[in-house]
Amino acid sequence: MSQTAASGVRPIKYAMVGGGQGAFIGAVHRAAARLDGRWELVAGAFSSTPERSRASGAELGLDASRCYGTWQEMLTGERALPEGTRAEAVVIVTPNHTHYSIAKGCLQHGFHVICDKPLVATVEEAQRLVEAAEKSGLVFAVTYNYTGYPMIRKARELVHTGAIGPVRKVFVEYHQGWLATDLEAAGQKQASWRSDPAKSGGGGSIGDIGTHAENLLSFVTGLEITSLAAELTSFVPGRRVDDDATIMLRMTKGARAVITVSQICVGERNNLTLRVHGETGSLFWQQERPEELTVCKLSGERLILSRGDDHGPIAAAATRLPSGHPEGFLEAFGNLYRGAAEAVLARKAGTPAAAESPAALVPGARDGLRGVQFVDACLRSADANAGWVSLDGE
Ligand SMILES: NC(=O)c1ccc[n+]([C@@H]2O[C@H](COP(=O)([O-])OP(=O)(O)OC[C@H]3O[C@@H](n4cnc5c(N)ncnc54)[C@H](O)[C@@H]3O)[C@@H](O)[C@H]2O)c1
Repeated sequence: MSQTAASGVRPIKYAMVGGGQGAFIGAVHRAAARLDGRWELVAGAFSSTPERSRASGAELGLDASRCYGTWQEMLTGERALPEGTRAEAVVIVTPNHTHYSIAKGCLQHGFHVICDKPLVATVEEAQRLVEAAEKSGLVFAVTYNYTGYPMIRKARELVHTGAIGPVRKVFVEYHQGWLATDLEAAGQKQASWRSDPAKSGGGGSIGDIGTHAENLLSFVTGLEITSLAAELTSFVPGRRVDDDATIMLRMTKGARAVITVSQICVGERNNLTLRVHGETGSLFWQQERPEELTVCKLSGERLILSRGDDHGPIAAAATRLPSGHPEGFLEAFGNLYRGAAEAVLARKAGTPAAAESPAALVPGARDGLRGVQFVDACLRSADANAGWVSLDGE
């Protein structure tokens, strides 16, 4: 039985911008939102062309009057509908350069926002959006979906409760191989806009997957980047953005980190790996084996924690199935939707989300800003061969 049925709470109506025919991540969002029955898709502006947008909405079984030609029409159209019928939230799954105006428009029209990463294209836009989101009193979630894994939330809890001592060194690797060739020249949709700096937000791999790495690092450790030194490379001839990066980071509390990000590693699929080394222990987690978290102690003890076993309430709240019944990418994504639904309900009730609750763990606009600052700092460091640069641009 779905949680909605169990709790009697009606699903929150939402609209989607992007995610039309041939798109990648929109369908993942829709599946994740369906998982707990807490969200209902009612409208959308799904594509960059009105015809395709309407055709995409029809394929999804939506009422024709709610399949809009553009996102601007969607915002005014939905706003004009009676409360209870209209969408309350908008999910933004378009190429990066469009996020800012769509998100700003959503807030101005009173919609909660769930926006994919990287939040926007420039630091200035990100700062303006943070301000607008905080002033609005609306929920603003950024889908850093890897934070939704139960064993990542367990890792965060272990760090925060001192189980591995103060963090000294963190390695985050995010390696893919799908851009090892000039896929954009062949017109591949996802490669084309990602390799166009005007659409990607300037960064290539650092924006596309480096922002996930940066977010995972700060989510699990609670530390923030103070400065960094980045080497960015474009291995594929003619490519206008980086497809490979090695970044050294100085973190708060004296910790150090290294992020390596690459999309030209033949044979790698979605290999996001996290290693956190503290004074008395270490943690190891891999996205392609997300159910396991390895914990090493100074004593030599080595434990493999498995999702679904009893790891306390935080991990349990992100778990649907018993151990031995694998959960993965969609469920982790669904945990962000679960948290965002709880955040919307808490806002309506005027009650703050409890610390470490699913609602409190959903990344927000400020996390999005940090991702954009990270990309900006990487570009500044590499472009001028400047070496170490601070995150805030000073
Ligand atoms: N969280 C994740 O793991 C993850 C994974 C992939 C992509 N993303 C992010 O999601 C976003 C979309 O990426 P994708 O790979 O799905 O891209 P995509 O190219 O597959 O899909 C983009 C969709 O947006 C539509 N679109 C473009 N401009 C539009 C507009 N003005 N109005 C309405 N629709 C418009 C396109 O027609 C297409 O349907 C990007 O910001 C990307 O960084 C996140």
